Parts: sequence; structure tokens; C-alpha cells
Amino acid sequence: MFSNLIKFFSRITIKIILLYSFTLLTSLLISFFMVYSFFEIYLENKTKDDLIEKAKAYKILYKQEGLSGLKNQIIKEAEIIKNVEIFFKIYDKKGEIILNTNTGIHTKNLVINLENYGKLNPDTYILTTVDYFDIIIYKLSNKHILVIGKSKLDNNKLLNRLTEIFYKAGTIVFLLSLVGGILITTSITKKIKNISNTAKDIATSMKLDRRVPITGTKDELNDLALLINDLLDRIEQLVKTLKETTESIAHDLKTPIARIRSSTENLLIKNNLSTECSNLLVYIIEETNSLNQMIEDLLTLSKLESGTFVLQKEKINLSNIVKKLYNLFKDYALTKSITLKLNITDEIYINGNEKYISRAIANLIDNAIKFNKENGEVVIYLYEDQENVILKIEDTGIGIPEDKLDKIFEKFYRVDESRGVYSGSGLGLSLVKAILQQHDASIELFSKENLGTTIVITFPKITNL
Ligand SMILES: Nc1ncnc2c1ncn2[C@@H]1O[C@H](COP(=O)(O)OP(=O)(O)OP(=O)(O)O)[C@@H](O)[C@H]1O
Ligand SMILES: [Mg+2]
Repeated sequence: MFSNLIKFFSRITIKIILLYSFTLLTSLLISFFMVYSFFEIYLENKTKDDLIEKAKAYKILYKQEGLSGLKNQIIKEAEIIKNVEIFFKIYDKKGEIILNTNTGIHTKNLVINLENYGKLNPDTYILTTVDYFDIIIYKLSNKHILVIGKSKLDNNKLLNRLTEIFYKAGTIVFLLSLVGGILITTSITKKIKNISNTAKDIATSMKLDRRVPITGTKDELNDLALLINDLLDRIEQLVKTLKETTESIAHDLKTPIARIRSSTENLLIKNNLSTECSNLLVYIIEETNSLNQMIEDLLTLSKLESGTFVLQKEKINLSNIVKKLYNLFKDYALTKSITLKLNITDEIYINGNEKYISRAIANLIDNAIKFNKENGEVVIYLYEDQENVILKIEDTGIGIPEDKLDKIFEKFYRVDESRGVYSGSGLGLSLVKAILQQHDASIELFSKENLGTTIVITFPKITNL
């Protein structure tokens, strides 16, 4: 679960989307705070300017029409702007209120302390804030002070509206950009995935004719795809040339070997040969046989590994194949004082090629007998579980040193001790691997030096036959 989560977050698409969302969100928030602060300062300054302008206009009226003229004007205005959060107060020099408008609007408990303002010179003012009111205290004359207050509520309403608009517009912009970002990122990662899928396909199944799909978008990824395809063309060509060279060398070798063999056979049937000479000729014939076998193996391997050859497969009875091989090897094993045992379930089928599968299993049984000890044992198991068919070959032989285990499937590789002592070219297991690959089967090898080796082959069960 936790590792799945790590895998999910390490995907390049998720990383880009997360980074993209984070950057987008941060930019949106920064822009919002900048706009918000600008408006807040702007509205605050505007309120102050309005208050100053209004107070100055009243001062002119006060000068022209005296206190009663100003009072009438203020009362009239207060009547009109009843619903606006604004109030006017006029104080006399003792601090007593002479006029008080809009007393109902949140100003009931508003206490304006005029003590400090008594010292103000006439025609000067002070701007201040009391509770949530912006206030101007304007000294009209030595006798009267005018106070105008405007609630911050209107400004706050505007700012709240701005926040609301930002949330809505911001969410839409964020979602749209996110969808755009996801679309772009997925299209990029899809192209990368195409490249990696092709590489994976070639690596696992040797399908050298596979190519990265070209979208023709003329971007860097398209260039990369073209470059990889170009490289694949060259690799395919190289493998083809290598295969052709191997095949032609192998074919060229076959004819002289056949000639050596037939000449040796002709010599052998002459009856005036010494025993030593006859033995030598028999040895030469045996060696030509193994050379021929090696050439055959090389040709088959080159065909199987070419990436273009596909084995013809059908439903085959693996139990019967194993039984046939058991009968073939049983007596040969006895000549080497080795007991070959069979432990199989009947009627087990796989989707395969009988000729090649027989060849692979024969090599494994041959190895198990060849690399065994005197009075040793080889057991062949065949069974199936819910998903797979399992073939196991267990021997009590010389085993394979741990440090050689990973080299065992390489072409021509033979563990040092096998050289000279045991016959063989070291191509058997490479062939087994190539054949099993064509059957989507896996092979595992467990071995302990001097104790024995166990080979486990897992075939997929037939599903649609
Ligand atoms: N069952 C086994 N027990 C011990 N060693 C083994 C066993 N199977 C394989 N090996 C080691 O792995 C090497 C490679 O095996 P592989 O079958 O490829 O070649 P080979 O048997 O020597 O020759 P070929 O199969 O071509 O006749 C062998 O030479 C041997 O050293
Ligand atoms: Mg072998």
C-alpha cells in the first residue's frame, strides 16, 4: 500500500502536475493579496479624502451662514443619506453635543473623546479611527467642532465582494489551468511511455522489428523517437548481418565436416587396420558428430534469437512428451549407475512446439545425468496448479558453484570442472532458455555444490484452446 503510494507519487505526470498546481496556486494567492491590499489602501484613502472634502465644504457654509445655516444643511443631508453609514456631530467648546445625526446607525455607544482636540487651532483637522468608523474632527472655530464619521462597513463589503469574486474566478482559472496542464503532461508522458514500451518489448521478447510510433508533432520527443527508431534500424541490421554470418559459417563448416566423416567411415571399413588406428577413426567420427550437433545448435539458437522467427505452437500433451523422454534416457542413465525416476500427473497440456520443447527437456535431463555422481538419482516431476504447469528436474549431482550460477545460460559457458571431463559444447542451456522464451515460460535454477541441482520450469496454463 505504502510502496504503491510512493510509486504513484514518483510518476513523472504526478510530479509535474503537483509542481504545476503548487506554482499556479501560489501565483493566484500572491496576485490576490496584491489586488486586495491595493484596494484596501485605495478605499481607505478615498474615504479620508471624501471626509476632508466634506468637512471643508461645511466650514465654508459655517462661515457664510453661521451655525444655524450649517445645522439646517446637515439635517437636510442626513435625511437624504439615511441609509448610508455616516454621521455628523457638532460640539460646542464645553464638549456638549449641539447636533447629532443618524444616531441609530451603530453610533449609539460611540464615544468620541474631544479632550485632546480642544487645543487644535481653528480651521485644522485630525483624521482618526474609532471603532469601525473613519472620523474627521474639524475645528470650525474656537466655539464649534465638527465631527463626521463614515463607517468602514461599506469598504469591507466591497472587499468581501472582491474576495468572493476571487474565490470563484480563482477556482475556475485553477481548474481550467489544471485540466490544461494534465492534458499537456499526459500527452508528453504518453510519448515517453511509447518509447519505453518499445524498448521493453525489444528487451523482453527480442522483437527487433518494433518501432516507436511517430506522431509528427515536430517536437523534441518526436526527434528522440526518430533517433531511437534510427538506432533500432541499425541494431536490427547488425543482428541480421551477425545472424547471416553465423549461418553462412555454420553452413560452410557442415560440408567439410561431412566429407571428413565419410572419408573416415570409408577408412574404417578397411579390414587391415590396427586396433589403435580403428579407435582413432572412431574418435574422429564421434568428434565430427559433436561438431555437427554444435553447428545445428548454433543455427537453431541464431534462428530463435533473431527476433523475427516465431515458433509454431499448438496444444501438446506435456505428460506424454516427458514420458517418452524418460523412456529414452532411462537405460542410458542406468549405464552410468544413475536411477531416473518419474513423478508426473497425466494429461497435462500446454501451448507449445513438441519438437523444440522435447529438445529443451532432453538437454536438462541429459545435464542431470551427465553431471551426476555414481549411484546418483534424477527425479522428474510434472504437475499443475491453478495458473501454471510446473516441470521440475532434480538431481543429486556435482552441483554448480554459487558464483557461476548467473553465467550458466551464456553461450558456450561450461563450469571449469566440466571442461575436459564431460562432453558437450555449452550451448544446451542457451538453447533451453531461447526455446522457453518462445513459450512464455520461466526457468529457475537452484544448486548446491556437491549436493545437486534443481531446475524449475513454469509454463502458463492453456486458457483459450
Ligand atoms: N544439472 C547440472 N549439474 C551440474 N552442472 C550443470 C548442470 N546443468 C548444467 N551444468 C553446468 O552448466 C554448463 C552449461 O550447461 P549446458 O547444458 O549449456 O552445456 P553442456 O551440457 O556442457 O553442453 P551441451 O548441452 O551443449 O551438450 C555445463 O557445462 C555444466 O558445467
Ligand atoms: Mg547440456
